[in-house]
Amino acid sequence: MTGPTTIARDAAAPLLAPDLPLWNPEVDDVLVVRAIRQETHDVRSFVLAPRAPARFSYRPGQFITLEVEIGGEAVNRCYTIASAPTRPHTLTITVKRVPGGPVSNFLHDTLKVGSTLRAVGPMGDFTCFGEGAAPAGPAKYLFLSGGSGITPLMSMARSFHDLGEPRDIVFVHAARSPADIIFRTELELMARNQPGLFRLAPVCEGDSAGEPWAGLRGRLSLPMLKLIAPDFLEREVFVCGPSPFMAAVRALLKEAGFDMARHHEESFNFEELAAAEPEVAAEVSAAEAKIDGEAAVEAVVAAAQAVVAAAEAAPAPVYQVTFTKSGKTIEVPGDRFVLDIARRAGIRLPSSCSKGLCGTCKSKITSGTVEMKHQGGIRQREIDAGMALLCCSKPTSDLVVDR
Ligand SMILES: Cc1cc2nc3c(=O)[nH]c(=O)nc-3n(C[C@H](O)[C@H](O)[C@H](O)COP(=O)(O)OP(=O)(O)OC[C@H]3O[C@@H](n4cnc5c(N)ncnc54)[C@H](O)[C@@H]3O)c2cc1C
Ligand code: FES
Repeated sequence: MTGPTTIARDAAAPLLAPDLPLWNPEVDDVLVVRAIRQETHDVRSFVLAPRAPARFSYRPGQFITLEVEIGGEAVNRCYTIASAPTRPHTLTITVKRVPGGPVSNFLHDTLKVGSTLRAVGPMGDFTCFGEGAAPAGPAKYLFLSGGSGITPLMSMARSFHDLGEPRDIVFVHAARSPADIIFRTELELMARNQPGLFRLAPVCEGDSAGEPWAGLRGRLSLPMLKLIAPDFLEREVFVCGPSPFMAAVRALLKEAGFDMARHHEESFNFEELAAAEPEVAAEVSAAEAKIDGEAAVEAVVAAAQAVVAAAEAAPAPVYQVTFTKSGKTIEVPGDRFVLDIARRAGIRLPSSCSKGLCGTCKSKITSGTVEMKHQGGIRQREIDAGMALLCCSKPTSDLVVDR
């Protein structure tokens, strides 16, 4: 007969405490790299955890903004959370090396297990999961991903898989070659685990050195889509990938008569989105998107009248805005965003989303005040410390900006 044995508790045990607080970047925005996985030859996943035990809460498809210091400058970039909130103790970002890109190469080349990063978020609306107790969603999805644009769709697919929630998903992934298919074995496993429900359709442009590609070959086209998912017109479509990929998908769906209200897309390039939407056109198209028929015409007219009325109204006061590093001073009307006017004046400032989301344009205002309407790209304590997002800040006095 043996006596009672004492089993030493693993040091990781406290991480599973049932009452862990939620990660709050306002309290501590430092994340520690816990693991690094080589996904393909140029894609790596970084598993991140808070310094003190905490859980992450987010919706699949949302992103965080990382702040890294390169050459003494703080640089911000957004990364989708590729992991699923069903595994809340860590979050994973999956990063593709962009040739010549400062941040993606910095992450690949310098991060080690134990390295730390600063992050803000989660943010973003690209998700098929509503907030709170949302009504039952669509039963059938079509996920179309290209390259590193797989990350938000992977988070959604992982979430359904972990939750044991049956959803009919056709998951298309476009890659250059079989060696470029990100998460290949995990996607194949999900397909095996959910027979008849989760269908994986990789599409490769060509072979890779070690593997001739026997599957669907070329670029995604309407005939190919009809072959992969003959019922695609009945599906809710989520798309993320390079801009030409997303443009091709939009074109082929429109050609097929797809109801574009059920098409959702995420771009990894906010600048392209902003460039494609001049201010007035954006206001008009937002009004167009919200309503149909006669109401749409009225709304478009109202939006145009609002723009004209704003232009005719008493001119806003004009303030002097000085950028200390470039030594330039410009005049910014009190009803215009600092970033927009600075750009028009030829001053190069870091920016990405242009809508207060990503934090890329965060700058220290060393003197003066602004009116800022952001969407989560800055923390309250940064605002308290005199920081502002120039893309969504209008001056309310003369300003001195540390840029
Ligand atoms: C909401 C959002 C989510 C994102 N999620 C991810 C993600 O999950 N994984 C990921 O790898 N990247 C993601 N990105 C892109 C990421 O923020 C960076 O832009 C990317 O890592 C390149 O940064 P960089 O500093 O190396 O190069 P940059 O100087 O930013 O970019 C250099 C050039 O490469 C282009 N480029 C940027 N990203 C890519 C890309 N992925 N593939 C090809 N060309 C690109 C840029 O348009 C630019 O012309 C996301 C971007 C946004 C806005
Ligand atoms: S450019 Fe994204 S917050 Fe300003």
